[in-house]
Amino acid sequence: MIVLVTGGAGYIGSHTCVELINAGHTPIVIDNLRNSNPKSLERVKDITGQAVTFYEGDVRDEALLEKIFDAHEIDCAIHFAGLKAVGESCAIPLEYYQNNLCSTMTLCKVMAQRGVKRIIFSSSATVYSAENEMPLRESSKTGNCTNPYGWTKYMGEQILRDIAKADPEWSVVLLRYFNPVGAHESGKIGEHPNGIPNNLMPYISQTAIGKREKLSVFGNDYATHDGTGVRDYIHVVDLARGHVAAMDYLCSHKGEGVFNLGTGTGYSVLDMVKAFETANGVKVPFVIAPRRPGDLDTCYADPAKSAQILHWQATHDQNDMCRDSWNWQSQNPNGYDD
Ligand code: NAD
Ligand code: UFG
Repeated sequence: MIVLVTGGAGYIGSHTCVELINAGHTPIVIDNLRNSNPKSLERVKDITGQAVTFYEGDVRDEALLEKIFDAHEIDCAIHFAGLKAVGESCAIPLEYYQNNLCSTMTLCKVMAQRGVKRIIFSSSATVYSAENEMPLRESSKTGNCTNPYGWTKYMGEQILRDIAKADPEWSVVLLRYFNPVGAHESGKIGEHPNGIPNNLMPYISQTAIGKREKLSVFGNDYATHDGTGVRDYIHVVDLARGHVAAMDYLCSHKGEGVFNLGTGTGYSVLDMVKAFETANGVKVPFVIAPRRPGDLDTCYADPAKSAQILHWQATHDQNDMCRDSWNWQSQNPNGYDD
């Protein structure tokens, strides 16, 4: 199938391009490079042997989308494009709502005009309310988001749900990602955050390589086995394969489907530090710091619905996540700038 991959030069998008090609599909990428480097797509070619057609531009540019739909017989879209930094979304909320919601609406408008009514949307575990019990199921309560980024995902889901309700020809799959980490095993593609990383795994690997002095562990007085926050870390290649599995579902079902992409296992911050040190034979100096505002003690998925209906489950373990994060980091200390 020919798949329009918005945000395909980014972290999850580039890994998904590899898995789409491996499965015999053809990705067509649109990305404005706001948070990515086009070298990621050259590396996708190195890995797969197949060049990716790339349009540099904004998903909110309706004329550009029309041009792309005219040039290719697109079967479905995977919509990754969006801004994703929680802290930044509190500082520039309007830009987040503008970017994340208008891109979704423009894309759907052009898709509907062209009769392409199949879309997979990058949602997040952040749409779940804080008061839920663990593990989080797709039926758990959503809303009460703690930041504008989370609301854009919540609202994005709602827009797509309403589109599918109004027109029975639409197939919409909402994928709620837990904590994506790791990199392709080749070490050729991975995550390279701009500036100081917000997320745990890039901070650990930048500390291990000496770019950061020490990791701050945000809180050790949570109600968890060692007092540090517990999350459901998922290898990005498993996550990417979840999209390929969701495409089969998309093509055989109408209406809306929502699925967790997680492993079902939670690890604490200190579990991840120790696993990283063991997997890679490196030291990760850390200090205990105050809690980070807005953090939960524990968050992990029940992935049973994805296993049952998408026939997908994660196959990479914690050691694979740590090994592949380090492989990418150590081969590309400055990401794609090297
Ligand atoms: P990323 O920043 O690496 O990738 C997003 C890509 O979208 C970037 O290449 C960026 O340049 C592009 N982009 C942004 N706005 C655009 C626009 N208007 N037009 C065209 N391109 C645009 O992020 P990622 O980690 O790969 O995340 C992909 C998606 O998954 C995002 O929607 C994100 O919110 C969602 N998600 C990510 C995580 C995570 O922890 N990484 C967790 C849950 C959900
Ligand atoms: N942490 C530290 N030190 C750091 C960074 C993180 O101790 O320098 C801790 C956090 O306090 C938390 C855990 O590591 O306990 C994970 O934090 P991340 O920032 O890596 O991930 P979050 O669970 O906070 O959030 C991520 C994404 C969100 C997404 C959410 C759920 O950043 O966009 O997962 O999918 F919504």
